[in-house]
Amino acid sequence: MKKLTLGLAAAFALAFAGTANAQNYPTKPITMIVPFAAGGPTDIIARIVGENMSKTLGQQVVVENVAGAGGTTGIARALTSPPDGYTIAMGHLGTFSAAPATYPGLKYDPINGMQTIGLAGGTPILIVARKNLEAKDLKEFVAYVKANPDKLNEAHAGVGSVSWTTCTLLKGQLGVPKLNAVAYRGTGPALNDLVSGQVDFMCDQIVSVAEQVKADTIKAYAIASPQRSPALPNVPTTKEAGLPEFQIEAWNGIAAPKGTPKEAVDKLVDALNKALNDEGVKKRLLDLGTVMPTAEERTPAGFAAVVKRDADKLSPILAAAPK
Ligand code: MLT
Repeated sequence: MKKLTLGLAAAFALAFAGTANAQNYPTKPITMIVPFAAGGPTDIIARIVGENMSKTLGQQVVVENVAGAGGTTGIARALTSPPDGYTIAMGHLGTFSAAPATYPGLKYDPINGMQTIGLAGGTPILIVARKNLEAKDLKEFVAYVKANPDKLNEAHAGVGSVSWTTCTLLKGQLGVPKLNAVAYRGTGPALNDLVSGQVDFMCDQIVSVAEQVKADTIKAYAIASPQRSPALPNVPTTKEAGLPEFQIEAWNGIAAPKGTPKEAVDKLVDALNKALNDEGVKKRLLDLGTVMPTAEERTPAGFAAVVKRDADKLSPILAAAPK
């Protein structure tokens, strides 16, 4: 009887300590895993948003780049970490909605095994090419790709990444499913090689290419969104440029391991929302072409719905695509 009472007391003390810890959260720095190289769109958004979240949380949000396997290495690391709110991830359309269809043995389940926090930003997709590629507009590019499928080098950030996923859709629509491809640890390093002319083209999120397009170091054929981006008003939509069927909206968002305490989730959601409402953060994101998420998309449930919607849309197409 005495043993039982002591056991109950210990269990109660542990549960109480857990609750108290969750209520005091955060008491130490939080790691935000970026599953791609520094300098790419995911890294850029994570650093802008994370810096402001640190202020609200009263603890540093430290970005850690864990690249590899189209972003799935870093996301697997984050989502299999202890669910205590101290390891979170900045993922995206690729790692959360596309990867499950492209990696059958994936070590995480974004639909049933992840705690969504919220969407951090929509990231329109552009078809960009090295500055001196012969094709001067999208129609010429399409004709060139179809006539010379073995001559072009496509850059992407690994199977399952956004750049791979979106160019896979594009190539499927053009009837050239397989081109020469060069896989990088992120589109940051891929963009450097595009600027120096070592690769020919890629499909990338606006956030990292906007500045290079404006500086004329690369060219943008079109944006795969219904409207032009205010950040790049001279770049035509795919519809205007003659390829209306190529439409895809990418995004970046934050998630944590399943089982993260509600107190920590609530504080992370609040910090994300405060960051996105901050005028300075908003301006930096908008200048790079980010689309600000709706109030609903900034909630765990709203973001989970986005992840599932896009996984349902992409899975059948990607499962059959050449890897
Ligand atoms: C990155 O941050 O490098 C990109 O989001 C990679 C990608 O294309 O998915």
